[in-house]
Amino acid sequence: MSTIAVFGVIGAGQMGQGIAQVAAQTGCQVLLLDASPELAEQGLKRIERAVARLVEKGKVSSPDGEAIVSRVKPAGDYAVLGDADFVVEAATEEIELKQKLFQSADRVMKEGAILASNTSSISLTKLAAVTSRPERVIGMHFMNPVPVMKLVEIVRALQTSDDTYQQTRDLGEKMGKTVVTTKDMPGFIVNRMLIPFLNEACFALQEGLGTPEDIDTGAKLGLNHPMGPLELADLIGLDTVLHIAEVLQRELGEDKYRPPAILRNYVAAGWLGRKSGRGFYNY
Ligand code: CAA
Repeated sequence: MSTIAVFGVIGAGQMGQGIAQVAAQTGCQVLLLDASPELAEQGLKRIERAVARLVEKGKVSSPDGEAIVSRVKPAGDYAVLGDADFVVEAATEEIELKQKLFQSADRVMKEGAILASNTSSISLTKLAAVTSRPERVIGMHFMNPVPVMKLVEIVRALQTSDDTYQQTRDLGEKMGKTVVTTKDMPGFIVNRMLIPFLNEACFALQEGLGTPEDIDTGAKLGLNHPMGPLELADLIGLDTVLHIAEVLQRELGEDKYRPPAILRNYVAAGWLGRKSGRGFYNY
């Protein structure tokens, strides 16, 4: 297996930051790319804070913490990805945007380098099809918060080669994750189960079944979930939840995935959850 020494991340938002942090903790040199150097720099600042917390808690030594942060290089220009052995795209859940980003990365990446997407619902086969390296394209779907959650879903596009799959699997395990492999179907394994659950919690709220606290307490104490569905939706981002529900409904053609009106309204109001300061709860 070839060594993955340089790891690129496209998108320095919540998921991109977490992926970049874990890759740096694994010892990779990390290129953290966003639409501008300033956005990438903001992502790096949040990684610095997360690593500082690990140092405070004694989970990472101070020199190791400094080394982790020093391995992350923020950037605003795709040209840097020419050095990468492996790139994960973690941008907004919109297929046109992801296809555009995939083409930009594909143009500058070296032959044989792997181009992965952290998409939670979009077809990898469709992303692979717009590149010149379809056999080197794969899905690598991390869970939020990335540094804490143990799972990574690996999604094989129709075109993904066995070698790409094996290298990605080995990398996921090296990053300390448990890997599950899934077919390229909308929502894969985790969101196929999660979205109907989050939707149903929104319908329950919309119908006045209970307060957000009641609904979340029902899941936490009645089902032993670490977080209730509404607070989890706020953590994921209500815009992201809506995008995934729309993809599932459209692509699988089943009404059971339909997003509730309350979710659409909150997104229209800009109440996106934790990241905007207001969602089902105030932050
Ligand atoms: N980043 C890094 N570390 C974090 C964190 C974050 N955002 N949030 C919490 N942690 C760490 C804490 O520092 C703490 O670490 P230590 O044990 O080392 O001190 C640990 O996680 C536990 O945190 P807390 O004690 O503050 O709180 P908690 O016990 O309630 O755990 C939680 C927080 C881990 C988020 C937990 O509530 C949980 O597991 N929630 C469910 C999360 C989940 O379901 N994620 C999947 C979402 S689905 C998805 O991501 C797929 C998709 O495509 C939408």
